[in-house]
Amino acid sequence: MENLTPKEIVSYLDQYVIGQDDAKRTIAVALRNRYRRMQLPPEIQDDVIPKNILMIGSTGVGKTEIARRLANMMSVPFIKIEASKYTEVGFVGRDVESMIRDLAAVSLKLVRESENEKNAEKIEAYIENKIIEKLLPPLPAGASEQKKIDYEASFARMQAKFEKGDLDHLKIKVEMPLPGLDFEGSGLPPQMANVQESISKVLGGLNKKGKEKEVTVKEAKRILAEEASAELLDDEQLKELAIEKVEKGGIIFLDEIDKIAVASNSQSRQDPSKEGVQRDLLPIVEGSTVHTKLGMINTDHILFIAAGAFHLSKPSDLIPELQGRFPLRVELDSLTEEVLYRILTEPKNSLVKQYEALMQVEELKLVFEEESLKEVAHLSSLANEKAEDIGARRLHTVMEKILEEISFSADEHKGESYIITREMVKEKLGKVVEDEDTTRYIL
Ligand SMILES: Nc1ncnc2c1ncn2[C@@H]1O[C@H](COP(=O)(O)OP(=O)(O)OP(=O)(O)O)[C@@H](O)[C@H]1O
Ligand SMILES: [Mg+2]
Repeated sequence: MENLTPKEIVSYLDQYVIGQDDAKRTIAVALRNRYRRMQLPPEIQDDVIPKNILMIGSTGVGKTEIARRLANMMSVPFIKIEASKYTEVGFVGRDVESMIRDLAAVSLKLVRESENEKNAEKIEAYIENKIIEKLLPPLPAGASEQKKIDYEASFARMQAKFEKGDLDHLKIKVEMPLPGLDFEGSGLPPQMANVQESISKVLGGLNKKGKEKEVTVKEAKRILAEEASAELLDDEQLKELAIEKVEKGGIIFLDEIDKIAVASNSQSRQDPSKEGVQRDLLPIVEGSTVHTKLGMINTDHILFIAAGAFHLSKPSDLIPELQGRFPLRVELDSLTEEVLYRILTEPKNSLVKQYEALMQVEELKLVFEEESLKEVAHLSSLANEKAEDIGARRLHTVMEKILEEISFSADEHKGESYIITREMVKEKLGKVVEDEDTTRYIL
């Protein structure tokens, strides 16, 4: 996954996001460049810094969708965050550096998962032994040779049963793991999180074992998996791997970056905190060292992809230093009628497929005639022109409107087919869209 070619990345995204080829290509190249860099000799490697990307496009054209799909695809630490949720150090809220700590947490999870996979056999064996030991009466100390042989024989028999799942329903007692010591995501300022962590460490030290609880073997397998991985994997080594993964491959998707820009024409509501956030962002984007639970993390080679609609502000309303740190600009196109039609039908889980699946649950077969979808696209595009352009989100409102009645009464039509024709679409929506005011209110 880490060495997908730009073409492969684009074709993956193509399954979900229609059009926006420039944005897809730029991102694909940026991702490939990480891989290319890693193949270079160390002297050059350090100097090749990532080119951060700024995606600009009006609302509902697929910015967040691209990020969401990337996140699913990537096996590198990747987080998507909203720039608007950060506040400057000293203000109440999340400080900007916490994004690196979040990324580190994601990385640790990734590393742990891949190590768990590598050690799957060992972990299985650990769990199996642990559970069988609980089921068999223990071998007393100083048991005779014969007893030992018997014990091993019954152990082997239990193993065979265990592997077939025959023991799954039995009840055993296991120690529940202590509630997680993970405060990365708690939203506390770092100092507080540290304090809280030390406290729980002390408490954990006093009371190392969790409570015992009676569960079925099946559940015990799941509960013990965590214990097994903690027991078998070396924490320090995991942390090191996780740090390396973040520093070399980490990607942060900074969504809604326009929300921290201060529009130049709105002197009345200058927001000092927004500029503060931008200023706090500078060192992180530029490359600095952030203290995390895993250790110090250097942000030099983390790739930032920022996105924003920039309706009320412009990229030039960001402080100049920050603008300069996003050298690659891509604009996303607004969606035409043709593209809207393709968005309805082509993506893997397109809106049409979603509705069909939902109605299928009620055993109602929903059939969209092609012409009806053309009409939906046409009306959506018209509505976008007349009222605000909200991009593909308009399709959602339009479809809801069309399916309003049948959604409500679907359960009364079990086994039937419901065919949506162009006439139906026109009848339900033609009037609404014709009039600008009703469009504004209804769609
Ligand atoms: N080009 C596209 N291809 C497929 N689906 C799209 C496309 N553009 C938008 N959508 C759909 O429209 C909805 C909104 O898109 P998205 O969340 O990406 O908007 P956005 O560009 O991030 O807007 P905003 O600036 O308001 O955050 C999503 O459900 C997404 O699936
Ligand atoms: Mg968005």
